[in-house]
Amino acid sequence: MNGKITAATVRADFNDPLAVVHYAHAAHTLGLWESERLLIDCFFPDKTARLLEAGCGAGRVTLGLWELGYRHLTAFDFAEDLVDQAVSLFAERAVPIAVHHADATHPLCHLISDNYFDGVLFMFNGLMQIPVRDNRRAALCELAAVVVPGAPFLFTTHDRDHSRAEKVAWRLEALRWANGTQDPRLLEYGDRYFEDDVGSRTFMHLPDRAEILEDLAATGWLHEHDVMRRDVAKESRQVEDFSDECRFWVARRA
Ligand SMILES: C[S@@+](CC[C@H](N)C(=O)[O-])C[C@H]1O[C@@H](n2cnc3c(N)ncnc32)[C@H](O)[C@@H]1O
Repeated sequence: MNGKITAATVRADFNDPLAVVHYAHAAHTLGLWESERLLIDCFFPDKTARLLEAGCGAGRVTLGLWELGYRHLTAFDFAEDLVDQAVSLFAERAVPIAVHHADATHPLCHLISDNYFDGVLFMFNGLMQIPVRDNRRAALCELAAVVVPGAPFLFTTHDRDHSRAEKVAWRLEALRWANGTQDPRLLEYGDRYFEDDVGSRTFMHLPDRAEILEDLAATGWLHEHDVMRRDVAKESRQVEDFSDECRFWVARRA
């Protein structure tokens, strides 16, 4: 791939069989991270709430929410093959959750059945896998449009400033952008497109804290809390192998 990264690139990477197996395995065996469970307990106290999960992938978090006792769940993802995996997992576990194929950057009103949602989640950095800041803001607006005022929103991002090594790496990357020698497929400073050792490709935008605060304020969300994962819980080796350090964000619909 030589052109710029687009939503189609990201969708194709998530529909790649290597990615599908990776996320399906996690949905079947890993379940919620301890940090996710603690924050969900804290900010989603009402088990009768209608919750919307964006970027549900193969259903890892959705199934975790069901196991915690939430019964009014709606999940969606824009990668068809991951949606198929979530559908089979829920059928296998006899869990009656509808999973939709939808793109968070497009209107989501068709996902509302009886009433607006009482809360929304976009876990494991899915929001940051949307290329271009305006598109991430569009997704934040679409999510805000389908929830009641005061609804909590939990999501994660990486953080460019979370360690000294990360800060140094980004200073070097800033020089590449200044010289025009950055990876030509990238769209904005903060973007990364990498291939892991088994050949699976991932696009990710890594923001700084100020960027997310501005984006929330511009899209109808009130920032309530943010915290690095390491300050919430010590995760198991399996969770650390599956996922890097991240920052959790909690906002409320204005
Ligand atoms: C890192 S995966 C996490 C999957 C799952 N939530 C988990 O934790 O295992 C991010 C997910 O976000 C989805 N995603 C990315 N952009 C999206 C968009 N614009 N609309 C809907 N889903 C999107 C991807 O298809 C992918 O399933």
